[in-house]
This record gives sequence, C-alpha cells and structure tokens, in this order.
Amino acid sequence: GSHMSEELNNGENSLLKNLEDGFTIWLTGPSGAGKSTLAYALEKKLLEKGFRVEILDGDVIRNTLYPNIGFSKEAREMHNRVVIHLAKLLSKNGVITIVSLISPYRAVREYARKEIQNFMEVYIHSPLEVRIQRDPKGLYAKALKGEIKGLTGYDGVYEEPENPELKIESHKMSIEEEVDTVIRTAQKLGYL
Ligand code: PPS
Repeated sequence: GSHMSEELNNGENSLLKNLEDGFTIWLTGPSGAGKSTLAYALEKKLLEKGFRVEILDGDVIRNTLYPNIGFSKEAREMHNRVVIHLAKLLSKNGVITIVSLISPYRAVREYARKEIQNFMEVYIHSPLEVRIQRDPKGLYAKALKGEIKGLTGYDGVYEEPENPELKIESHKMSIEEEVDTVIRTAQKLGYL
C-alpha cells in the first residue's frame, strides 16, 4: 500500500515509523474527573498533526455492544477486557488509541499494560467537591440522594494507579495544558 512505497522512498522516516507502531493513551479515573474532555481535545490535536487516532470511550462501547450490562465488578472487568482487546488491535496497526474508561481495578489496568504494546497510563484526578460541582451527567446528584449506588468516585471502588506514566490534576490545569503534558510524556516515552 501507500505505506510501503513511502517507506521505500524515505527509508528511516521517523513519522512513518511512529504511524506504523501506534500506541495507547489509557485515561483512567472516576466519573466526572475529566477523561472524556481530555480524550476529545487530545484527538483533535493529534488529528491536526496528521496522525490516525481512535477514541475508545467506555460509555459509547457499553451503549453500542451491551447497554444493560451494568456496573458490577464482573461486568466492569468483562467490559474492560473488551476495550483492552480493541486497543491492542488498533495500537498494533498504527493507530493512536485514546481509551477513556473508568477502569477502576488495578489488576485489569495491569493486564492492559501487559497486553498492549506501547502503553501509557494517565490518571485523571480531581477532588470529590470538584467532581460534584461539575457533574455533567447529574450522576453525583443522584448518588447524593441515594438514587444510584456504586458510583465510582463516590461510593464505588476506585483503585488509584500506583505508577502511572502521568497523573493529571484536572482542576489545576487548562485543557490545553493537559493536552500538552500528555503529548510531551508520549514523546519522552518515544511513542511520538
Ligand atoms: S467502567 O467502570 O470502566 O466499566 O466504566 P466506563 O465504561 O468508563 O463507564 C462509565 C460511565 O458509566 C456511567 N455510570 C457509572 N459510572 C460509574 N459507576 C456507576 N455506578 C455508573 N452508573 C452509570 C457514567 O456516565 C460513566 O461515565 P463518566 O464519563 O466516567 O462519568
């Protein structure tokens, strides 16, 4: 295909090499921490730079494939494994894959790290007060009233990353700064 002929023409073209490698930016954090906002801003920036990008958004994959699966530990683990598999396939094929997934369990994220070549874990953090204030989907309001149980970041489990490649405190930075730090970290890791 076109990759092949460009490769013959350009030899060790570093942009092309990166396009062929791909990698996964794994955004983890509780509900309302700012994963989706960062995912879409990152996508925009990387597309402008000419990369192939795909977002794997937990909410979207749930609604498309298994809308009634729910939020038990088993359901989340199964769902997260589906996302890991998709990210693995995309990354292997030269796509910069942005995963936006609560992924509350450390063991599952460690499995992602093992399965996906070129992996970076980005922990998106903000204090409970900030998440309650933002509450884009009104979920914290419901949790506070006791209308939903097990909301991650409120009364649901979230096992914090111990050694993420990057931790972002989304209440302390602008979205542009967040995008820049993620890109700089990817560059340091040799993925970009
Ligand atoms: S997980 O834990 O990895 O399976 O979560 P994910 O696939 O990212 O889906 C999270 C979105 O589902 C909505 N939602 C809940 N999240 C967490 N806990 C409970 N109990 C829950 N109920 C519904 C919520 O909109 C999540 O989206 P974000 O954008 O993270 O708030």
